[in-house]
Amino acid sequence: RCVALLAGGRSGEREVSLSGAKVFEEALDSRRYSIRRYDPATDLARLARDSGDIDFAFILLHGQYGEDGSIQGLLDLLDIPYQGSGILGSAVAMDKNLAKILYRQADLPVAPWHVLGRAERPNCDAIIDELGLPLVVKPVRDGSSLGLTIARSREQVLTGIERGLQHDERVMLERYIAGREITVSVLGNQDPVALPVIEIIPGDGYEFFDYNAKYLPGASREICPAEIAPELTRKAQEQGVRAHQVLQLDGYSRSDMIIAADNTIYLLETNTIPGMTRTSLLPQAARAHGLGYGQLLERLIELGLE
Ligand code: DAL
Ligand code: MG
Repeated sequence: RCVALLAGGRSGEREVSLSGAKVFEEALDSRRYSIRRYDPATDLARLARDSGDIDFAFILLHGQYGEDGSIQGLLDLLDIPYQGSGILGSAVAMDKNLAKILYRQADLPVAPWHVLGRAERPNCDAIIDELGLPLVVKPVRDGSSLGLTIARSREQVLTGIERGLQHDERVMLERYIAGREITVSVLGNQDPVALPVIEIIPGDGYEFFDYNAKYLPGASREICPAEIAPELTRKAQEQGVRAHQVLQLDGYSRSDMIIAADNTIYLLETNTIPGMTRTSLLPQAARAHGLGYGQLLERLIELGLE
C-alpha cells in the first residue's frame, strides 16, 4: 500500500510535525507500506497529481492548515482516506472557544472564559474583575502552548493578549485552574476506548508544560499510568471519551485536563492530531495499552479505512 505522509506545513508547530515524521518513517512496517512524503507548504500540487496512486494519507500536521479541517477537506475532494477526524470535528476542536461551548453543553467541566479580538482589548479590565487573576491568555486556535501566557497581573494580561494576537485574530482569557495536569488519549471511531491516563510534571524551571517542556527530552516527567485514585482515572477517561464524542471526532484524540484540588477535572482542549514525536504523550499511552508505535500507526490506518 502507498501511504502519503503529510508533514511540515505552515503552522508554528512545523518542527513538531517534522520530528514526528522522522519517527513515523522508522516505525511504519516497510514490508506492508511504502511511504511518499509530502510537505503541504510546497507539495500540494504534486499530492493532487499523485492522488490516483495513493491508498491512504497520514496527516502528521499540527495547528493551522493541518489540524483544522483544511487538509482533511482537500483529501476528501481527492478521495483519499486519512486517519483521524474529518473536516467538521477538526475545525471545531481547533477552535478552543467552540470546543468549550460544546464541552459545557455536555456538562463537562470547563474553566470560565471570555474571548477577545483586537478591537475588544479595552474589555479586558471587566474580564479581570469577573474572572480574577491569574488568567491563562492564549490564542483561540494554536497548539503546543504557543503564544500562551499565565498572567498574574493586569500588565501581564495586556502583554499576554498582544502575544496571543500574534498567533490568531482572537485570544481566550480563561480562569487559571491550579492542579495536576493530565492527558487522556482515546482510540476508536464511534465507540472509542480511553488509553491509560498520563500525568505531566513539568521539570524544574518550567512554570507549566510549555513548548520547551513538551519537546526537550527530559524537560518533564510523564507518569503513565498516572498515580491517581481509580475513581479519578475512570472519571478522566470517561471525560476524554465524551469530549471525543461531543466534538464529533474520529479515530483518535487526546484531551488535556487539570485535576483541581476539589477533584473536579477541568477540560482544557482536545487535540485531533496529537503529537507523535519521541517525547509525545499519545504514543506513550498507547505503549502502556500494549500498542507499540508501529502498531498504533497500523491501528490508526485501519480506523481511517473503516
Ligand atoms: N499540539 C501538539 C502537537 C500535541 O497536542 O501533541
Ligand atoms: Mg493542543
